[in-house]
Amino acid sequence: MSPAPVIAARSLVKTYGMGDAVVHALAGVDLTVHQGDYVAIMGSSGSGKSTLMNILGCLDVPTTGRYLLDGIDVGGLDERQLSLVRNRKIGFIFQSFNLVPRTSAVAQVELPLAYAGVKAAERRRRAMAALTMVGLAERADHKPNELSGGQQQRVAVARALVTAPAMLLADEPTGNLDSHSTKEVLGIVDRLNATGRTVVLITHEDEVAHHAKRVIRLVDGVIVSDVRQAPVDGPPPAMAAAAESFGQVAAEAETLTQEAIR
Ligand SMILES: Nc1ncnc2c1ncn2[C@@H]1O[C@H](COP(=O)(O)OP(=O)(O)O)[C@@H](O)[C@H]1O
Ligand SMILES: [Mg+2]
Repeated sequence: MSPAPVIAARSLVKTYGMGDAVVHALAGVDLTVHQGDYVAIMGSSGSGKSTLMNILGCLDVPTTGRYLLDGIDVGGLDERQLSLVRNRKIGFIFQSFNLVPRTSAVAQVELPLAYAGVKAAERRRRAMAALTMVGLAERADHKPNELSGGQQQRVAVARALVTAPAMLLADEPTGNLDSHSTKEVLGIVDRLNATGRTVVLITHEDEVAHHAKRVIRLVDGVIVSDVRQAPVDGPPPAMAAAAESFGQVAAEAETLTQEAIR
């Protein structure tokens, strides 16, 4: 039997307001994403990207429709179960990094593991592996205000991947970055996908979407196109070794997640 898709969304509708003022932010979205895919969701402002991201990220629920995340029907879950699913299944990357002020990089990356109940020594080991993966092992003790924007987003990427989630979900991850940092962060995301991570990335920039294997376009809350494209060149070979050692940690984390969620 093939594994369940990471995302199986059917007829998602999200409406805001009522009567004459009703807005159909999503007007019937069907989406299936399998493990290992790299999807860019594109659309102009107001097309429903953030609404879709919030639903896929279990931060919001659809007005109607059904959503299975990694085989789990999230429609039937209460708040506590939803936050558990978010913690175990999804690694979030936001435009504004969302790091905790005055907290070292390694402590930020350990946070989701603390919520997941991983013991201190193990947290440190995994967090360092994730920081190594994004090329920031030597900045582990730096606080956000001691890091560049690109470095802060790399810390956020390490935090997103440290639990070995079923998918990385990124909303305009390079929206606040200069072109050099954008390349760096996208190179890391490319590498993570190349080593098996499922990536769903929301963007309005063609240059960012160019990195994905599949581009989905939203207009007025509906998918108007869904196209596969050739991947860009692979990431720098220097990251290969770090990725390999992280693969081991990720496999262990996956096992723990499966046990915890059962
Ligand atoms: N909380 C809300 N209340 C009312 N309307 C909303 C709310 N959130 C989004 N919308 C509307 O839903 C539509 C889609 O918004 P959004 O998902 O934020 O689009 P995007 O992220 O693509 O810019 C827009 O018309 C927006 O004004
Ligand atoms: Mg948005």
